[in-house]
Amino acid sequence: MTGNVRPENMERITTPALAEAFIEEQVKELRAQIGDKKVLLALSGGVDSSVVAALLIKAVGQQLVCVHVNHGLLRKGEPEQVIEVFRNQMNANLIYVDAVDRFLDKLAGVAEPEKKRKIIGAEFIRVFEEEARKLDGIEFLGQGTIYPDILESEDGVKAHHNVGGLPEDLQFELVEPVKLLFKDEVRVVGKALGLPDGMVFRQPFPGPGLGVRCLGAITRDRLEAVRESDAILREEFAKNGLEGKVWQYFTAIPDFKSVGVTDGKRTEGWPVILRAINTKDAMTATVENVPFELLQHITRRITSEVDNVNRVLFDLTPKPCATIEWE
Ligand code: XMP
Repeated sequence: MTGNVRPENMERITTPALAEAFIEEQVKELRAQIGDKKVLLALSGGVDSSVVAALLIKAVGQQLVCVHVNHGLLRKGEPEQVIEVFRNQMNANLIYVDAVDRFLDKLAGVAEPEKKRKIIGAEFIRVFEEEARKLDGIEFLGQGTIYPDILESEDGVKAHHNVGGLPEDLQFELVEPVKLLFKDEVRVVGKALGLPDGMVFRQPFPGPGLGVRCLGAITRDRLEAVRESDAILREEFAKNGLEGKVWQYFTAIPDFKSVGVTDGKRTEGWPVILRAINTKDAMTATVENVPFELLQHITRRITSEVDNVNRVLFDLTPKPCATIEWE
């Protein structure tokens, strides 16, 4: 697919048949572009990079090298799902990098949100670069750029390259097969490629991951509490018909404790903040009206199943004046 402008007569991909036609055309174009060369792809497990991976696997199979970097800030079960779907089911050439200690060591003691984001972004590029240098004969870099990224980068809102910032000598030719598609179309294509619903319809998840939900300076024990409480929230939303209905939902934990009491004994534990919002474009957001009984049930589960947590709060604030994330 050449050019960065979506042709006016390009039909919106809304059905499996249209997705199949798109996939067939892309497979042809990808084979023509790539030939017998190799393509490198940073595979986060998000919708866009997963769909690009599945397309490239279909087109060039083992010539695609996927790199999944576990920075320790992923949700519960995510690295395992990437390995299961891509390595075990799709037979992808997948390099799994356990970079948990590297990231958490770099982040130790850093409390300022933007500084945390910068460290996570820069370290990601460093890890990816190291993996790229170990490989021979890579000429292409796959990217999950989608059409809103192109529109936003033209507006000057943000740069659209997901792995921008690689050094000069690693500037590969880009392969961006979904760059003219909107998010809903990417999902239809992902479904037609056989990706699991949990991956295709998953809620947005920020690049710095749980790092911006473990508020202030990240500690391993509090990060684990964020991961476990997030998993409980997601499980309960799925069981109660809210998954797929609510746009984004997660937990955050501040870096202070409060006093509680359990079995007549004083405790000190962290509060877990629940957030569940709806939005169209993430510029403004409203709060989901979560049934009170469900909130009580989630509170009981989190306070009994997650270590060192003795309080649960529900964030009632729309955007504006709050942002969606806490940092
Ligand atoms: P805010 O908190 O700005 O979030 O209201 C708007 C949307 O953007 C996501 N978000 C991020 N995504 N890197 C990302 O890739 C980030 O640093 C980042 N910060 C916020 C947030 O989850 C929400 O969907």
